[in-house]
Amino acid sequence: MSDRLIIFDTTLRDGEQSPGASMTQEEKVRIARQLERLRVDVIEAGFPAASPGDFEAVSAVARTIKTSTVAALARATENDIRLAGEAVKGAASRRVHTFIATSPIHMEKKLRMQPAQVIEQAVKAVKWARQYSDDVEFSPEDAGRSEIDFLCRVLEAVIDAGAKTLNIPDTVGYSMPHQFGNLIRQLRERIPNADKVVFSVHCHNDLGLAVSNSLSAVLAGARQVECTINGLGERAGNASLEEIVMAVRTRQDVFECDTRIDTTQIVPASKLVSSITGFPVQPNKAIVGANAFAHESGIHQDGVLKSRETYEIMRAEDVGWGANKLVLGKHSGRNAFKSRLSELGIELPSEEAVNSAFARFKELADKKHEIFDEDLQALVSDEAVAHVQEHYKLISMRVHSETGERPHARVVISEEGSERHAESEGGGPVDASFRAIENMVSSGAELLLYSVNNITKGSDAQGEVTVRLAKGGRIVNGQGADTDIVVASAKAYISALNKLHSKLQRLNPQM
Ligand code: KIV
Ligand code: ZN
Repeated sequence: MSDRLIIFDTTLRDGEQSPGASMTQEEKVRIARQLERLRVDVIEAGFPAASPGDFEAVSAVARTIKTSTVAALARATENDIRLAGEAVKGAASRRVHTFIATSPIHMEKKLRMQPAQVIEQAVKAVKWARQYSDDVEFSPEDAGRSEIDFLCRVLEAVIDAGAKTLNIPDTVGYSMPHQFGNLIRQLRERIPNADKVVFSVHCHNDLGLAVSNSLSAVLAGARQVECTINGLGERAGNASLEEIVMAVRTRQDVFECDTRIDTTQIVPASKLVSSITGFPVQPNKAIVGANAFAHESGIHQDGVLKSRETYEIMRAEDVGWGANKLVLGKHSGRNAFKSRLSELGIELPSEEAVNSAFARFKELADKKHEIFDEDLQALVSDEAVAHVQEHYKLISMRVHSETGERPHARVVISEEGSERHAESEGGGPVDASFRAIENMVSSGAELLLYSVNNITKGSDAQGEVTVRLAKGGRIVNGQGADTDIVVASAKAYISALNKLHSKLQRLNPQM
């Protein structure tokens, strides 16, 4: 059996299915680049049949990524598979992933199909998918609640039809680790042609067991795990990539396989996904939580000072903590700036974009003496936002806040090039600025989330704000970064308004 564990990241597909985590094409490409730096084997970039925007985003990821395989998801229909196949056509290495449900409840209530029809459709789907790629993955949805005899029949048939990876999902997070491991062991033993495929698992976290179930499956011979950064995903999420990778890496005495992940890229990936989706990482989250390597009790601190292995089973720097080393300062030149961006794997689309990012860097360096990698990432995110069609743009703002007084904001924006301004009071300076902006744009959007994070340490750190807005069933996240968190908040609000505007405009081009 192979000693290589394939890491299939589905942050951009299942992760994006978390309510409120939808991403723009540019954001998906940015995350995909980071996943490539992390050296994930397969990036599932989306579900092209879901919408033309999803199709475009998957195609853009496929064109960009060079060293990871890019996969697209499709239901077991000819049209879905055609769209998935076309979306990944530009990839250096591509995969089509098709699925159909196999549990009695899904077949009867959702698909309204007989088991024999499901097998027939699964076989057709794999054959259609093979027209677009030799690398085809098949998933029997809700396998965790399917009958094993039926699963064996479906899976044997799809292997004969040309599937190369069989992914066994615990779609509703119902399995227990010993049961799920046993399921994988039995499938491998009972399916006659099982040796022709890689067994994969895809576990949801409804009972908090996604990682345990996946690891139990690895012990039973699964050699691909589907997972997401920070465990993002439908409902309670998927198995978290960082936990799977570090469990296998740290316990090489238990697992007979390892991944090719560059673990030092884990924390940067976690921060990027958290900042783009606006889903904060809980401080006590394993590996990527802010407290994951912090020792509070005196006994622990004393032990770690004497010998770090007394209380530490992993090194913080091995997963990318402490990577926020000082990189540049206000005297750094354009070349140093450009070469650090390229070391970080960031490519700006043109020399003009580099110039404008460099100008922003100089402004930032004037306010903040030490510029870290994370500051550069945030600056480039702002730059990317600036290059998206900006319907609204923040020109300037003045905010007055004083103890005992109601805060007041005056905000100047431009709307398609023409300047407008408005004022408002509010419960706090951020509230006053949002109200002033709303006085001009009257979006009527509902504010679902407002979150602020410091990008690096210190009171002169940039604040990174995420604002989530909803309107007419559309949900968008806007981001903004600045050393002044009220300005960062206004930028984030305006970035969300721009995304909402472009989504609504796609639906109604007359807008
Ligand atoms: O949870 C699930 O079953 C899925 C499949 C499409 C793999 O996401
Ligand atoms: Zn899933």
